Amino acid sequence: MTVTIKNEYDIVKMRVACRLASEVLDYIAHFIKPGITTGELDRLCHEYMVNEQHTVPAPLNYQPPGYPPYPKATCISVNDVICHGIPGDKKLKNNDTLNIDITVIKDGYFGDTSRMFIVGEGSVLAKRLIQVTYECMWLGIEQVHPSAYLGDIGYAIQCHAEAHGYSVVREYCGHGIGTMFHEDPQILHYGLTGTGAQIRPGMIFTVEPMINAGGHGVRTMPDQWTVKTRDHSLSAQWEHTVLVTEAGYEVLTVSDGTPDKPTILRAC
Ligand code: MF3
Ligand code: CO
Ligand code: CO
Repeated sequence: MTVTIKNEYDIVKMRVACRLASEVLDYIAHFIKPGITTGELDRLCHEYMVNEQHTVPAPLNYQPPGYPPYPKATCISVNDVICHGIPGDKKLKNNDTLNIDITVIKDGYFGDTSRMFIVGEGSVLAKRLIQVTYECMWLGIEQVHPSAYLGDIGYAIQCHAEAHGYSVVREYCGHGIGTMFHEDPQILHYGLTGTGAQIRPGMIFTVEPMINAGGHGVRTMPDQWTVKTRDHSLSAQWEHTVLVTEAGYEVLTVSDGTPDKPTILRAC
């Protein structure tokens, strides 16, 4: 495992890339309503990135080993889709939940963030899952300080999710990020306090828990990207990119539209 420690120059560049990724979410939020397709949302994001921000959408043609090239600029995961939903001609309808995951490249640096949205009012169950998942992400982030362990992040997330009867997806995790999309270390969203590598100042990684209302099982669709819950239960995810500082952490994926940190945060 080779974890890169970022220098002051890297950090300045990462702040910009991460803010731009977050600003794509601010921009697209206004277009989410019944009848629009996920493909149209993707096209709007893509045009905003390329024409307004002069950023590059990192997902487009991204091809990790064993995968076909990813065909779109964003990932949009609706209802029981956990992650890597490919935008297409599916029209959004009232009460749908969706995650929009944006990764931009600016001057060679990657910023990665995602938020949940609800079309129309949303069911009580959906709102609760989305809120608890948001708390999970923040409880994970709050563990981040030098000399803490990576396992502390996963433990806090898993505890909170399971206390609400939800489950943590095991197959996908947070990741180091910088001049590459996915770097070491892996940030598991489950685990045990005091396990794994120590957290060090200058690390930059994502915290991006995927939480299912039902069981943690996943099923990958024939397109080889779209991942759904095995039991068709609802799934939610939030993602921030975080810098480890001497004092603790700095969330880099912030912009005017970033939701506030939850007020009541209690790890198990
Ligand atoms: N943005 C996702 C993450 O948080 C990765 C998407 S890979 C893609 O790590 F190819 F599907 F875009
Ligand atoms: Co990520
Ligand atoms: Co992402």
